[in-house]
Amino acid sequence: MARRKIIAGNWKMNKTPSEAVALVNELKPLVANDDVDVVFCVPAIDIIPAMQAAKGSNICIGAENMYYEESGAYTGEISPAMLVDAGVKYVVLGHSERREYFAETDETVNKKVLKAFEHGITPIICCGESLTQREQGITIDWIRMQIKIAFLNVTAEQAKTAVIAYEPIWAIGTGKTATAEQAQEVCGAIRACIAELYDEATAEAIRIQYGGSVNAKTAPELFAKPDIDGGLVGGASLKPEFGDIVNYKK
Ligand code: 13P
Repeated sequence: MARRKIIAGNWKMNKTPSEAVALVNELKPLVANDDVDVVFCVPAIDIIPAMQAAKGSNICIGAENMYYEESGAYTGEISPAMLVDAGVKYVVLGHSERREYFAETDETVNKKVLKAFEHGITPIICCGESLTQREQGITIDWIRMQIKIAFLNVTAEQAKTAVIAYEPIWAIGTGKTATAEQAQEVCGAIRACIAELYDEATAEAIRIQYGGSVNAKTAPELFAKPDIDGGLVGGASLKPEFGDIVNYKK
């Protein structure tokens, strides 16, 4: 069975609540497409207004992060129950920016992944190598390690519903998209790693996105690759161009 494409925007730290409403209203008609899952991952404070603005459309509102405890003295954090109560179905976990600036590790990503599943939220689990790692030829080893730790104690049934985002760090926000061949090579290796950890059926079901300077020009070739099931889009998700990315086939 063919996997359904999932194209997600990651707004990062952009858009105030009122700007979020305006952007959702602007993009709503442009991202209409019943053949793909469309997700806008937005700052926590934008979730509720964006959700209201997206009502009746095909846009699903997701979060950019979440904590792994249920509640308590964790000033500034957002709990899984808060996201669920707000109607959130997807959460980005382990983005390279969170790893770089906010001390996120493979271990905390794993804790968050387990928590997200416990609450019925689909994690979009990010992985990716630095330019140095690519030049050293350790990309696949590195990604396999990130995947193995992220999926510790995750069941096959849960893994089947997960989304993995392969985002080479050197391609994020640089305008330097990985070639479709480079992206396919790593996404294929990720699927093979899932097959090793679980089985073929799980590997066939899991969805793997590419992220890193995806734009309307590069999307069609990337999304045509056998192991690339869509994209996680930063900069271009804040613009009308996102509509062309979602409708990459037209
Ligand atoms: P850009 O599309 O801006 O390169 O960002 C990619 C990204 O980090 C998405 O999570």
